[in-house]
Amino acid sequence: VHALNKKETVQALIGTKNYEPKNSASSFAPVNIALVKYWGKRNSELNLPVTSSLSLSLPLGTHTSLKAHSKDLLFLNGKQVDLQTSFAKKLFDFVDLFRDKKTTLFIETKNDIPTGAGLASSASGFAALTLALNDFFSLQLSPKELSILARLGSGSASRSLFSGFVQWHKGVRDDGLDSYAEPLDARWDDLSIGLWIISDKTKPIDSRQAMQNTVESSPLYKAWPDTVSHDLSVMKEAIKTHNFSLLGRTAEQNALTMHATMLAAYPSIVYFLPESIEAMQKIWQLRKDGLEVYFTMDAGPNIKLLFLEKDRKTLESQLPNLHTHSNSIP
Ligand code: DP6
Repeated sequence: VHALNKKETVQALIGTKNYEPKNSASSFAPVNIALVKYWGKRNSELNLPVTSSLSLSLPLGTHTSLKAHSKDLLFLNGKQVDLQTSFAKKLFDFVDLFRDKKTTLFIETKNDIPTGAGLASSASGFAALTLALNDFFSLQLSPKELSILARLGSGSASRSLFSGFVQWHKGVRDDGLDSYAEPLDARWDDLSIGLWIISDKTKPIDSRQAMQNTVESSPLYKAWPDTVSHDLSVMKEAIKTHNFSLLGRTAEQNALTMHATMLAAYPSIVYFLPESIEAMQKIWQLRKDGLEVYFTMDAGPNIKLLFLEKDRKTLESQLPNLHTHSNSIP
């Protein structure tokens, strides 16, 4: 099997389908928080990862609608977006993989949380767009095929097609047709997530570039694949047995190990703000005082907390900026 480009991947999945555009379609996809992170690619055109990863979806996410229109137009959170911006270009480059030249679209997309704040809105964004395109062109793709296609937009989008706990299998094929996410058969109703928004400013370096610099220059990256395979098996055991301490500890350590690989890159990649470090210290103090709460962090300054529903009220009173959510398993 040889490597395909994006267009060839889409062709491989929808090429034989006889698709008819509808007048309109709309969709929702959830934000996902990785408990065992995706960091580093073996193919950057297709977003094929070095390792598998595991996430938990939130009830928040992206809502996207597509309408047939006389020309392309894009609205984000109610505001029109210039088609020359990099945001619009990325989005329409993805749409172009699915359409012929004569199909122009009015696209409206809304995020329940701030765009570009390291809260994975590109993941829910590309997942929602993939679902909307599937509906608009009546493609009737399977969840696995949808996950493969969303991955072409952003790696973590492959996981945002599903609610609850989700594992993205890294796959080994050069064409990526075995690199897709699927939900775990598990639920955990009192496991909750808190978003501690430290800053909603756009991050200094996007995760795509940061990942590449880490793989190329960090001497610690060598240790990452083994860390992930260990953490994945521990995490799955913690989920199966509802062992919250094990889940929290594993997620927190996995996130900090990912950041350690970035700190050791050259030039060094630091997503922490002073307030992020203060937040971590506050969480460690709360834990010392007997409140079981853990954190994870992605390519941005914000902190995501993991805790049990019974501690929600106490946590909210301790941390006034916290937005708490149940997980998304219906
Ligand atoms: C730190 O999926 O945004 O959030 O594939 O280049 O679009 P691209 O990267 P992206 O990276 C997410 C990295 C992370 C960890 C994770 O979500 O697993």
